[in-house]
Amino acid sequence: MATDTANAPRPMGGPWGLKITGVGAVLPEKVLTNKDLTAWMDTSDEWIRERTGIAERRIGGSTSGLSTEAAQIALANAGLDPGDIDQVILATTSPDHICPGTAPAVARELGILAGAFDLQAACSGWVYGLVMANGLLLQGMDRVLVIGAESLDRITDYHDRGTGILFGNGAGAAVVERDETGAGQLLSWDLGSNGNYVHILYADHGDVLQMDGREVFRQAVKVMQRSATASLDKAGMTADDIDLIVPHQANIRIVEAAWKKLGFSMDKTAMVLERTGNTSAASIPLALDDALRAGRVNPGDNLLFLGFGAGMTWASAIVRWAE
Ligand code: COA
Repeated sequence: MATDTANAPRPMGGPWGLKITGVGAVLPEKVLTNKDLTAWMDTSDEWIRERTGIAERRIGGSTSGLSTEAAQIALANAGLDPGDIDQVILATTSPDHICPGTAPAVARELGILAGAFDLQAACSGWVYGLVMANGLLLQGMDRVLVIGAESLDRITDYHDRGTGILFGNGAGAAVVERDETGAGQLLSWDLGSNGNYVHILYADHGDVLQMDGREVFRQAVKVMQRSATASLDKAGMTADDIDLIVPHQANIRIVEAAWKKLGFSMDKTAMVLERTGNTSAASIPLALDDALRAGRVNPGDNLLFLGFGAGMTWASAIVRWAE
């Protein structure tokens, strides 16, 4: 059961930390390949792969449905019951409704009566959620469920050569718990935004995503570099101290360009973009899940989560992995 003291502030001091104890990820079944797109769009598989690194994306399902499935897997992997969760944070840019938020419906499906809210920071949302979770643990909670989920097919025009080749659906969820041993830690984080760039990627009510792809590309490389450097500096680390980077999966060329400036290697990078496309807030937990299942994460590893997205927003966080 959720603890009665969930809202009571905890005394600081002593070992105290954060651990991610269960992760779950789901993609809807329906695959939309690059070749499928060529049936109605003047494009080619080669062009899309070369310019983006994407081969296919998934469509179908709903944000609440995908969230619920991913969260159920995360809870099972953490060995927890729904009642153990003190708070649900759902990062999404494609909620089921404009109002209410999608998180309460997901909580209901899971059997959770704790607080539940949506977090809209576009593709940076899951990392924002992780940092918020750390704050809630500090305030006295024991376990926070942080979900990133999207049904971007609802706001994507698959006839548009700019956006239609990029976006897809999916969901990833993580159970974030207090670590009384202090072994697991959120070592540093950096959140930022620049509202001067609202116009380069947005969707109006009832409309689809509009994007200035070139400008998004330019800004993305810049803010990834800036945010990763800020988190590394705050943690007193360099690129060599990071064991695995889990970046937002938007375009392989954005990652490669930023990595060149940051001195990061692709060998230490978790990527699922080729088969997911850009799933916005879901992309980082999807890549984390993949890395975990591939055995690429070990206790004591330093993981750098690094996101950017519409807003513009950006977010990074360095987590020392507990288990
Ligand atoms: N298929 C084939 N050709 C295409 C195409 C497509 N889907 N889209 C554009 N082109 C063509 C253009 O017509 C143009 O041809 P021209 O040189 O003969 O005039 C050429 O490719 C370059 O067009 P441009 O729009 O400058 O492409 P680009 O290299 O910027 O690539 C994106 C477009 C969308 C792949 C790229 O800008 C991008 O990925 N930006 C970042 C977007 C992003 O990550 N958004 C989410 C952020 S969270």
